[in-house]
Amino acid sequence: MSKNTYSLRLPNLAATDAFGRAIADAVAEKAIICLSGNLGAGKTHLVKSTGKALGIPEVISSPTFSVCNEYESGRLPFYHFDFYRLNENLMATGSPVETLAMEIDEIMSLKKMLSMIEWPEAFLINQKNYFEDLDRITIRLQTLDNEERLAEIKSCGALSDIVFQSLLNTLCK
Ligand SMILES: Nc1ncnc2c1ncn2[C@@H]1O[C@H](COP(=O)(O)OP(=O)(O)O)[C@@H](O)[C@H]1O
Ligand SMILES: [Mg+2]
Repeated sequence: MSKNTYSLRLPNLAATDAFGRAIADAVAEKAIICLSGNLGAGKTHLVKSTGKALGIPEVISSPTFSVCNEYESGRLPFYHFDFYRLNENLMATGSPVETLAMEIDEIMSLKKMLSMIEWPEAFLINQKNYFEDLDRITIRLQTLDNEERLAEIKSCGALSDIVFQSLLNTLCK
C-alpha cells in the first residue's frame, strides 16, 4: 500500500510559494484541498501561491462578502473558499445553508477545477461536516516559529491519491 501522508517543513515564505507551485503542477484536472490551521498559519498565503502558479494574474484575496471567490483566468477554474465567517455570510444573503450546499455540490462535481478551502470544519450540514466524505486532500498548517511552518498533507480518496503521488514526486525531487 502506498503512503498517504507526508509532512513538509516550510522554513520561510519562499518555501510556501514553492509548495503552492508543486500543488498547482500536481493537479492535472481536479483536486479538492481542505486547509486547516490557526489564524496566521499561512492558509491564505498558500492559496495565493497556488493560484499564481496556475497562471491567475489577478490579486487573490480572501472572500469577504461571500464564502467563495472564483477565478477563471488560470489553467483550471480555481475556487477559493473560506468558511471562517460562514454565519455572517449566511445572514447577509438570507439563504439557508442547504442552498449554499447545493451550489457547492455543483462546483465539487465539476470535472475540471481546483478548490482550496479554508476553515472546512466550519461547514456543517445536519451537524455533519460537508467535506468529510469527499475525495480530497487535507493540509494542516502549523506555526513552528515566526517564519517556519509545518504542513501535514494527507490524501483521502482514489482521485486524490493520484494527485498526492504526483505532488510527492515533485516535493521529493
Ligand atoms: N513560511 C510561511 N508560510 C506562510 N506564511 C508565512 C510564512 N512565514 C511567515 N508567514 C506569514 O504568516 C502570515 C500568514 O497569513 P495567512 O496566510 O493570511 O494565514 P491564514 O490564512 O492561515 O490565517 C502572513 O503574514 C505571512 O506573510
Ligand atoms: Mg486565511
